[in-house]
Amino acid sequence: MSLALDLPRLETTLRLPAQDERQQLLQGLLQPAARIDSKYFYDDRGCELFTDICRLDEYYPTRTEAQIFSENREAIAAHLPSNPQWIDLGCGDCSKTLKWLSAVDPARVIGVDIAGEFLHNSLSAVARRHPQLECVGVVSDFTQHLELQELLAERPGNPPVFFYPGSSIGNFEPRAAMRFLKRIRAHCSAHGRLLIGADLLKPREILEAAYADASGVTAAFNLNILNVVNRELDADFQPELFRHCARFDEAHRRIEMRLVARERHSVRLARHTRRHFDAGEHILTEYSHKYSLEEFSALLAASGLRCSHYWTDPQAWFGVFLAEPA
Ligand code: AVI
Repeated sequence: MSLALDLPRLETTLRLPAQDERQQLLQGLLQPAARIDSKYFYDDRGCELFTDICRLDEYYPTRTEAQIFSENREAIAAHLPSNPQWIDLGCGDCSKTLKWLSAVDPARVIGVDIAGEFLHNSLSAVARRHPQLECVGVVSDFTQHLELQELLAERPGNPPVFFYPGSSIGNFEPRAAMRFLKRIRAHCSAHGRLLIGADLLKPREILEAAYADASGVTAAFNLNILNVVNRELDADFQPELFRHCARFDEAHRRIEMRLVARERHSVRLARHTRRHFDAGEHILTEYSHKYSLEEFSALLAASGLRCSHYWTDPQAWFGVFLAEPA
């Protein structure tokens, strides 16, 4: 389906039908180890709370990556093809892309995001500030479907640069991360590139504080997912009957975010479906994997990509990787 709205151009919507999405959500909640996909964090309230998280003292990834970008922007841009098609995966308000425009001078910007209206507004703002720049929006759950070949083929002389900042790759389990990176690889001609941010391993206390901040913003973000589920499924979760929990699992090298039932109770999930929770029983809401520099380069390599350069901050808390087809 193609949605031709006014400028900027807004393209294909590739999502599962709503009914299938709801079915998946319900199935996840009915598993013995209940799960909610972390994509459900991001309703309007969740997006606001995530913005607040990014400003927390404890949440170092956003500002550390921003520091790496601002200190190395020209050096990074020097390794990119000239006039690329700049593809911002999960572009949000496009604020990160805006900072790259003068250094990269893209032939066009392709913003990909799941939230269509938000995407349209963000790209309209970019187009207003840069009237000469072609801006295209693709409404897509790109974590599941990445189908940009036809769009990229419209400009065969302008190689793609995929921009995937923020360490969102950490929210995939390693195998799914590899599948996703392979899909990016499949879109890269010889000159295509991937510029990606990944959060690095560091002491447990720093990691856990980043996901269980003292002011409770991450807790509110985690609990808000239950309001989203209530709307999606017409369920009756009471967020106050759960508490936020974020632990670093050393073996899997990941933060695991959960919602833990404070007491035994039961929740209506759908019209004729209930789920009982014992006190202490939990729902998994997110993994956030942390890598060493070597491990992340190896993940890229296993996905058919070669890390040509990387940049870190002085504490080596966060890594920015530039990859090309191997
Ligand atoms: C979006 N993603 C990279 C964040 C992270 O750090 O894994 C989501 C988040 N969850 C809690 N705080 C931030």
